Amino acid sequence: MSEDYQKWFKEKQQKLGAIDCYSAGVTPEGLAEQLGVDVSEIVKLNFNENLFVDRSKQVPLMKQLAEEIDLRMYPEDEEAKLREKLTGYLGVSADCIAISNAGDELIDRIVRLFIEKGDVAVSPTPTFAIPRLCVKRQEGEYVTVPLTAGFQLDVEGMLSQFNDKTRLLYICSPNNPTSNQMRPEDIEKLVKAFPGIVILDEAYGEFADYSFIPRLSEFSNMVILRTFSKAFGLAMLRLGYAVANPPLAKVIREKAPLPYPVSGFTIRMGVKILENMDIMRQAVSGLVAEREKFILALNQIEGVEAFPSQADFILINTKKPADETYTALLKRGIMLKKWGKLLQYDNCFRVTVGLPEMNQKLIRALKEIMSESS
Ligand SMILES: Cc1ncc(COP(=O)(O)O)c(C=O)c1O
Repeated sequence: MSEDYQKWFKEKQQKLGAIDCYSAGVTPEGLAEQLGVDVSEIVKLNFNENLFVDRSKQVPLMKQLAEEIDLRMYPEDEEAKLREKLTGYLGVSADCIAISNAGDELIDRIVRLFIEKGDVAVSPTPTFAIPRLCVKRQEGEYVTVPLTAGFQLDVEGMLSQFNDKTRLLYICSPNNPTSNQMRPEDIEKLVKAFPGIVILDEAYGEFADYSFIPRLSEFSNMVILRTFSKAFGLAMLRLGYAVANPPLAKVIREKAPLPYPVSGFTIRMGVKILENMDIMRQAVSGLVAEREKFILALNQIEGVEAFPSQADFILINTKKPADETYTALLKRGIMLKKWGKLLQYDNCFRVTVGLPEMNQKLIRALKEIMSESS
């Protein structure tokens, strides 16, 4: 091995080591092993996956695809087929849509396309972490403005950050982790004033009260992010899309770095699921009904406050220290996303709306943990 290579690789390693990467922490398999139980006993409420989607209806679609698809071929015209199908669902034309490997890759693609070293991105905090990681990797700066105490956008605070260096604004609505939608008039004001690209992340849009998609033509600088991972229950597949006005959608579509970024199987599964919309619709209505019951039940636990939700998860704050509760839940095989301090609340968790029996296990565990002396 040449000395030159060793020196160069060491420097690279150091530089890459400084890059923040997403880490999900313990996995269900890892936790099951630690606890000496079967993985099916783990209650996984940490990733906002949608278990209300009926697997018995998904599986036959995959089997049909296995027969129909020819894996030997490149997926040349596949994206166009899905875009065409999406026009019926979204009410926008196909030239307003760009397909991606789910939401994360879309954020990454937009950041790579539009953010250069020294550019600044702005977002409220707390919010979804991926945009910050992508901007930092591009050597951009990431400026955050706290949400208001009611989890809404601090419009004046954000406007005061806009200048000729701010080229990306990220707004998540419904917001992860606070689960509320932002006021439309606030979003409108910010998008209209922003001198760069705005990602409006509607990953949880199907669970919410409104979408900005019908108003797309009013905002030339806005990209609405959507995913098949949540309402459609296809997180394993990695499929999402951007909705933007044609010139912006075209750049996102055509300037993806690689020729066929999304697998043909994935795209065709998206088409199939859109041809069977009842699967998603039933899942969303089942989940929303359970969500409302779950919030009421959580709020009845002494020491737990659950906030209203317009997504497939619920933000809670507990009277006990978050670390203590987190450890006690893990011991019982229950996984939540720990947030800890969030604005004026000290001990927050993000809780996926699981199937009723999973939620019941969490409720029982929280009752026990909250009543134990620390
Ligand atoms: C707000 C938000 N946006 C985007 C995503 C990305 O999801 P995916 O990459 O599965 O589409 C997530 C995932 O949890 C999310 O919470």
